[in-house]
Amino acid sequence: MKVTVVGTGYVGLVTGACLAEIGHHVICVDQDEMKIEKLKRGISPIYEAYLEDMIFRNIQEQRLSFSIDMEAAMPGSQVVFIAVGTPSLEDGDVDLSQVEKAAREIGKHLSAYTVIVSKSTVPVGSCRRIAQIIKKNLIKEVSFDVVSNPEFLREGTAIYDTFHGDRIVFGSRSKKAVDILTELYKPLHQKILVTDPESAELIKYASNAFLATKISFINEMANLCEKTGGDIQAVAEGMGMDQRIGNKFLQAGIGFGGACFPKDVSGLLKTGEKYGYDFKIIRQTLAVNSTQKQKPLEILEKIIEDWKDIKIGILGLAFKPGTDDVREAPALYIIKELYGRGVHVKAYDPVANDNMQSVLSFPVTYCNNPYDAVSDCDAVILVTEWQEFKELSLRKIRRLMKRKIFIDGRNVFASESMKKKGFDYYPIGICC
Ligand code: UGA
Repeated sequence: MKVTVVGTGYVGLVTGACLAEIGHHVICVDQDEMKIEKLKRGISPIYEAYLEDMIFRNIQEQRLSFSIDMEAAMPGSQVVFIAVGTPSLEDGDVDLSQVEKAAREIGKHLSAYTVIVSKSTVPVGSCRRIAQIIKKNLIKEVSFDVVSNPEFLREGTAIYDTFHGDRIVFGSRSKKAVDILTELYKPLHQKILVTDPESAELIKYASNAFLATKISFINEMANLCEKTGGDIQAVAEGMGMDQRIGNKFLQAGIGFGGACFPKDVSGLLKTGEKYGYDFKIIRQTLAVNSTQKQKPLEILEKIIEDWKDIKIGILGLAFKPGTDDVREAPALYIIKELYGRGVHVKAYDPVANDNMQSVLSFPVTYCNNPYDAVSDCDAVILVTEWQEFKELSLRKIRRLMKRKIFIDGRNVFASESMKKKGFDYYPIGICC
């Protein structure tokens, strides 16, 4: 099939590359000329495992191309994906301006029946709105259907998730559109759930908000463990053995970040408000998450009497391992707070140093390896659980540090062993 994907962000690029990989002819369109020029040469603007290789291979095999020209891209496409950004507005609501712009452009260039797929995470009712905008902008009278087809990919494992997804959701009342999309996704051999568009749009928000709530729940349990003498890892293990609960997303830590959970939880809360409903649980999910990000600072406040001349090393800047994305990363918040206290911050991330440097306007010493980042530091905060941190020489770390305060924001190390090695060790949810 011929497919156009509008938007070459994380969702659009992964979708485009994977559809090309399973044999479709895909053209990805974006208004950012520089980005498109790089993509034409096979250079990915984001760090995502296997993505760049896949882009390069499919360009070579002439199944994947890139353009800034919607008019040239759209003719002959049976399916057009809208995969543009839907950032949060100041008040937590969703900014739909890019989606609306894409819909206007699609309307102008539609020349035969096409399935328009809403892939961006958009609030309930958006499919209806997209259809209205397209209709208003049609140059000639053609029929089309708009289908909600949310994505459930995780950054860092997006390619793997595409090929091993738990489900594909189509929200549509058109059998014709559902049949075309079923054919499009057939090579993936995955379970398909067909719903109405509103339910599909809600499934996406509900899934992210539920997972975020699971994290905030386990983080609250961790806080209780610290007070009562429990060990959150044992508690999570025991809970996770119950198949109704499941063992995923029960890793306590210093809060969730990223471009999705904070935005989508706020977005769902806002939807509730618009319809006169106060979604109390997810309001608390967000509140717990903001408190949880403060944990390393609370710990330090208790130990450090005078912040003058204090040096702190941050291990990990990305919001999670496997990505260079620092959006809403706990590290962002922690570094800002430390800087506000006059701390000299040193930091290391295997791939996210540059991204952090571009969003922080104040001086941080970015290091090329973890040992430099901890050297001469009073305290170290492990913020992102990269595999390479699990393999560090802890003896070397201890030797390089000035004071031996180690805050393990992701419970990477074993408490007893860290204490034996001479660290003043602070994990999350494990009573010391
Ligand atoms: C999330 C969802 O998992 C995807 O299904 C969804 O498609 C995606 O959002 C999206 O809407 O595009 P992602 O944000 O890439 O994916 O990352 P996750 O792996 O879900 O992690 C999110 C945050 O939760 C990270 O900061 C991570 O450190 C934190 N987390 C995760 C925990 O603190 N504990 C856990 O047990 C799991």
